[in-house]
Amino acid sequence: MTKTDTSSRSGAARAAADTTTLEELERRATAHRDRPSYGHDALIACDRLVRIFTTDGVEVQALQGLDLLVKEGELMALVGASGSGKSTLMNILAGLDVPTAGAARVAGCDLLAMDGKARLRYRREVVGFVWQQTARNLLPYLTAAQNVALPMQLKGRAKRKAERAEELLAMLGIADARDRRPHQLSGGQQQRVAIAVALANNPSVLLADEPTGELDSATGEQVFAAFRRANEELGTTIVIVTHDQAVASEVRRTVAIRDGRTSSEVLRRTEVDEQGMESLVAREYAMLDRAGRLQLPAEYTQSLGMEHRVALELEQDHIGVWPDDAER
Ligand SMILES: Nc1ncnc2c1ncn2[C@@H]1O[C@H](COP(=O)(O)OP(=O)(O)OP(=O)(O)O)[C@@H](O)[C@H]1O
Ligand SMILES: [Mg+2]
Repeated sequence: MTKTDTSSRSGAARAAADTTTLEELERRATAHRDRPSYGHDALIACDRLVRIFTTDGVEVQALQGLDLLVKEGELMALVGASGSGKSTLMNILAGLDVPTAGAARVAGCDLLAMDGKARLRYRREVVGFVWQQTARNLLPYLTAAQNVALPMQLKGRAKRKAERAEELLAMLGIADARDRRPHQLSGGQQQRVAIAVALANNPSVLLADEPTGELDSATGEQVFAAFRRANEELGTTIVIVTHDQAVASEVRRTVAIRDGRTSSEVLRRTEVDEQGMESLVAREYAMLDRAGRLQLPAEYTQSLGMEHRVALELEQDHIGVWPDDAER
C-alpha cells in the first residue's frame, strides 16, 4: 500500500514536473525565436568558421572556429602572424574558397550554400578584391581606363562605363593614368587602379590582401588613402589584411587573428578634451566567443604565473580573474 502511495505520488510529481518542463521548453523556444540571430545586423558575419586543408594526408586547420562581425560602412584591418589564416579567410569572403564548416554570410549571401551561378554573380557584383601582387590585379594589355571598364562590361552595364571609369580614377587621384598600361605605371598607381577596378560594379564589400605589401611606406600611404577615400565617398565596407603598422594604426578597428581565430581587437576613437583638443584613443579588447571562451594575453598570464587554472569572481561591473590558489 505504502508502495503504491509512493509510486502514485511520484507519478503525480513527475506529471507536475513534466508540465513545467514543457512550459519551460516552450518559453525557451519562444525566447530563442524572438532573439535576433548571431550577426543579424552585420554585413559580414562569420560564425565558427573552419577551414581544413588536406595535403598528402596531412591536415592543416587554417581556420579553427573563427568568429567575425563587420558592420556596413566599416573600414577595418586584419593583422596576424604569417600562417595565422588571414588569406584563407579572405579567399572565403571573396567567394574563391569554401569553408569546411561553420557559417559565413556577406550582404545576405550564404557563402556555404551558393551554387556556381550564384558564386559567379557574388564575385562580380557583391565583392571586389585587391591582391598584394600588383600584376595579378590588372590585365597588362589594357589601359587603366579599360581595366576599370572591363568588370562593368562583364556585368552587362555597358552604358556609362567609360564615364564611371573616369570618375573612379579621378576619385582615387589617378585620372592622368587613364590611357596608360600597367607597365607604364608605378606600383602604387597600379594598386590604385586595382582599387578602381574592384569598385567598378559598386560592390558592398572591398577585400584587400596586403595591398601595400610590395610598396615602400610613402607609396603605401597613398594607396591606403585611396581605400579611405572609397570608404568615405562611396560608403563601401572595406577589410584590409596588412602587416603594415601604419595602415593598422590608421583604421578605427584592427582585428588580430591567431591560430585561425580572432583573438583580440583594437578600437580607436577620437576624444575631445576640455580645451577642445582632439586626440585618438586606442583600446585593446579580447574576443569573447559564443561559448564564453576568452583568450588572456600571454604577458598578463605569465606575469601573474597563471597556468592551467584561474579563479573567477563576478563583481558588480567586472569579472575578476585570480591565480590558482587551491594548493597553497
Ligand atoms: N591551399 C592550401 N593548401 C594547404 N594548406 C594551405 C593552403 N592555403 C593555406 N594553407 C595553410 O593554412 C595556414 C594558413 O595560411 P594563410 O595563407 O591563410 O596564412 P596567412 O595568415 O595569410 O599568412 P601570411 O601572412 O604569410 O600571408 C598555413 O598553415 C598554410 O600553410
Ligand atoms: Mg596571406
